[in-house]
Amino acid sequence: MHLQTVLALGAILLCDAKLPRKQHIQPNELPSNPTQNSQALRLLQIESKSEKTSRIVNQYRRNRRELFDSKSYESSLTWAHSEKLDENGDFVLRWVNSDSSITFRLEAKTLGYVGLGFNSAMNMRGADLVVAWVDDRNGIARVLDCHGLAFDDRAVADEVQNYELISGYQNATHTTVEFRRQLDTCDRQDFVIGEDTTQVLWAIGPEGSDGQLPEHVHKGSRPLRLLQPVSKPDSIPLWHWDVRLNNLTIPHDMATLFWCKIFKAPDLPSKHHIVGYQPLIDSRPIRNGRPVVEKNSLSPVHHMVLYECAEDPDKNMWNEWADGDGFFGPNKPSEWAACVTPIAAWAMGSKGEFLPENVGIPLGEKAGVSYYMLEVHYDNQALHEVLDSSGIRVHYTPALRAHDAALLGAGVGVSALHVIPPKQRQYRTVGICSPECTNSTMPDEGINIVSVLLHAHGTGRKISLKHIRGNQELPAISEENNYDARYQQSRIVPGGRKFLRGDTLITECTYDSTSREKPILGGYSASQEMCLSFVLYYPRTELAGCYSMTPVKEFFETFGVKEFYGLTILQVENIFLSNGNLDSLPPQLLEMAAARQRSAEESAMQGDDQGVGLMKELVILDPPEFRNKTFMAHLNEMPWSEPLLTEKIEMSLYKGMHMTFCKKRDDSWGAPIQIQNYPNYTELMNNDTAEKSCHYKNVILPSTTASSAHRNLFNWSAILAVCSIIIVAR
Ligand SMILES: *[C@@H]1O[C@H](CO)[C@@H](O)[C@H](O)[C@H]1NC(C)=O
Ligand SMILES: *[C@@H]1O[C@H](CO)[C@@H](O)[C@H](O)[C@H]1NC(C)=O
Ligand SMILES: *[C@@H]1O[C@H](CO)[C@@H](O)[C@H](O)[C@H]1NC(C)=O
Ligand SMILES: *[C@@H]1O[C@H](CO)[C@@H](O)[C@H](O)[C@H]1NC(C)=O
Ligand SMILES: *[C@@H]1O[C@H](CO)[C@@H](O)[C@H](O)[C@H]1NC(C)=O
Ligand SMILES: *[C@@H]1O[C@H](CO)[C@@H](O)[C@H](O)[C@H]1NC(C)=O
Ligand SMILES: *[C@@H]1O[C@H](CO)[C@@H](O)[C@H](O)[C@H]1NC(C)=O
Repeated sequence: MHLQTVLALGAILLCDAKLPRKQHIQPNELPSNPTQNSQALRLLQIESKSEKTSRIVNQYRRNRRELFDSKSYESSLTWAHSEKLDENGDFVLRWVNSDSSITFRLEAKTLGYVGLGFNSAMNMRGADLVVAWVDDRNGIARVLDCHGLAFDDRAVADEVQNYELISGYQNATHTTVEFRRQLDTCDRQDFVIGEDTTQVLWAIGPEGSDGQLPEHVHKGSRPLRLLQPVSKPDSIPLWHWDVRLNNLTIPHDMATLFWCKIFKAPDLPSKHHIVGYQPLIDSRPIRNGRPVVEKNSLSPVHHMVLYECAEDPDKNMWNEWADGDGFFGPNKPSEWAACVTPIAAWAMGSKGEFLPENVGIPLGEKAGVSYYMLEVHYDNQALHEVLDSSGIRVHYTPALRAHDAALLGAGVGVSALHVIPPKQRQYRTVGICSPECTNSTMPDEGINIVSVLLHAHGTGRKISLKHIRGNQELPAISEENNYDARYQQSRIVPGGRKFLRGDTLITECTYDSTSREKPILGGYSASQEMCLSFVLYYPRTELAGCYSMTPVKEFFETFGVKEFYGLTILQVENIFLSNGNLDSLPPQLLEMAAARQRSAEESAMQGDDQGVGLMKELVILDPPEFRNKTFMAHLNEMPWSEPLLTEKIEMSLYKGMHMTFCKKRDDSWGAPIQIQNYPNYTELMNNDTAEKSCHYKNVILPSTTASSAHRNLFNWSAILAVCSIIIVAR
């Protein structure tokens, strides 16, 4: 009888890895003694959550496992990462990972418990939580694996303890604990720590809260990528060049403001390499007419891009611009269109970047004056008046690295033709960098992609940079499945990626617009959307930007519109392609543009509108059922909660026609503007995660302490042997 129960249990344990997991059985429960019938039966009993929790905590308190008494022991690990999770630095998280496990160190200003959690959302509902404390009476540290309930902000203990305590102690003010876990514990109550952005939750218990579980707390969360490789600044001293605005006043009525200014590079006698950059955020709210320095006040700086400008013989003009204050984005001189090559792209949440050790971006190679344009995007939805001197600190070195690198911008061209319908859980759009473009701008041996910055705004949930060669899809160059616009750090491509001329690059964005009532149009404002990737690669080529958008005719047809009053579709297309430059348009259009200008001034001023205003001006003539409505009104009134409609629109825009742009560093075209089909390729079979068995399930962390060593060990060889008998017997 005893044996049979164990056999059945063994079968469940082993085979469950490949089957959908059953609700009431915890596949990872490790009975401390597998031959003990009561232990095994207990697993199959259905207990209420709180009973389970108190049982586990009780067992735990009886010193069953995971305790460590140490006032002196600390691991001698080198912590690869260190982050202050709160503003004051009361909670410091350090960590280091291997291929399969991750070790954390928490230092928190409390003598009570410290809580850490992992989730895809910013709250503790369904989160993986771990609570640690040092018993005030005896100095014994404990760590308890918990999870947040799905419908209540309360933590309960996990069935299986997957966190292993390494050390823990407290001094007069702080509790310090070190523990580790597998990246994927194969336990449904734990979060799989992977490449994607993770919301790291933290909580500091009050004094005397040892052994309590966090309840209804919301202490804080930080988006972090726990497994990202680190690029450290060189050990040799670096020089720096500060590219920053000088006391620019952001008016309170500008919700979105683009400011552009030209900078003269440091005068260098020879080529140097830019190896990294950091943001310089200096935003002072103006209170009662005076700028004040306020701790914790949010800066309106949303993102900044530094562009290199193509050479221009007329140095006088550029020198003058470099001495000036800069221009409101849409009003900048047309010559500044020569500044197209991104050098550094910063977005909120990033602490800056250091490039991998083998690459640098050339600076001063022309051995003379060169010019750069800083573009700062302010997102001032709070409508404060602010004095701003933000910018970028560029780190560079004369010690040249192995390769000259460059940044390539790719994705969906920023325009109102990039529409995301409201009320969609997963709506996808794509931007294509065409094979004709890469064929005509890249060297025979191709390029090597080093890292990628993926960029979208608030409704972006996933971004993936796809790679197509011939008609075969290769593994994604980079992908983020839990995108958080507040955390935009570039992603190293492990081992790099060879990208050949003639290959296709596709940026795919997935948006969650369930919280929106109206369609979102593409644009620079934080309430609009983007879908971009900035690709760092070497050797440098002439290619600076490679985008696509839906051709205008196909775009309007997709939304059921054939003709407008006063303007042919071709003329509308010209407006989009002229990129706000209206000089060459017929008078009728200019009149319209003027009206657009007036209506724009009436509402809160928005920056460059990328065609959004035009959408509000175009009045539908054909088909008759939409006649006399503006296109925007039509768009707003479409039945967006109808999945058949939105799926059809998504498919027709995604897999339909794309107009591709291939821009070189000197602002000329690398390939002509083309309208082409979505590339025909065989999609990479995405191995379903459900099929992925937890093959490392039987791997147990090597023991670090005597006290926690053997208790956790489960004799898998015995179970394996037993299980194969059962499978054969069936
Ligand atoms: C207590 O521990 C914390 C974290 O390890 C440390 O920063 C602090 O200096 C320590 N305080 C004392 C008085 O040793
Ligand atoms: C910018 O403004 C601040 C505060 O008003 C002032 O202290 C500083 O000198 C100004 N900087 C320059 C370069 O004028
Ligand atoms: C790629 O460019 C070469 C010349 O540089 C040309 O001969 C070839 O046809 C092009 N291939 C494609 C697919 O455009
Ligand atoms: C549209 O407007 C025109 C003139 O403004 C008017 O003559 C026409 O009847 C309207 N058509 C519809 C369908 O409302
Ligand atoms: C796409 O390619 C496949 C195989 O290469 C081919 O069978 C199919 O007809 C192509 N489809 C289109 C629309 O060109
Ligand atoms: C999918 O699984 C097959 C066989 O298990 C493997 O050969 C292939 O490389 C996998 N593909 C990916 C993208 O992981
Ligand atoms: C596990 O079981 C096998 C086979 O029954 C036995 O040879 C081995 O000693 C056991 N290992 C442990 C650690 O108990």
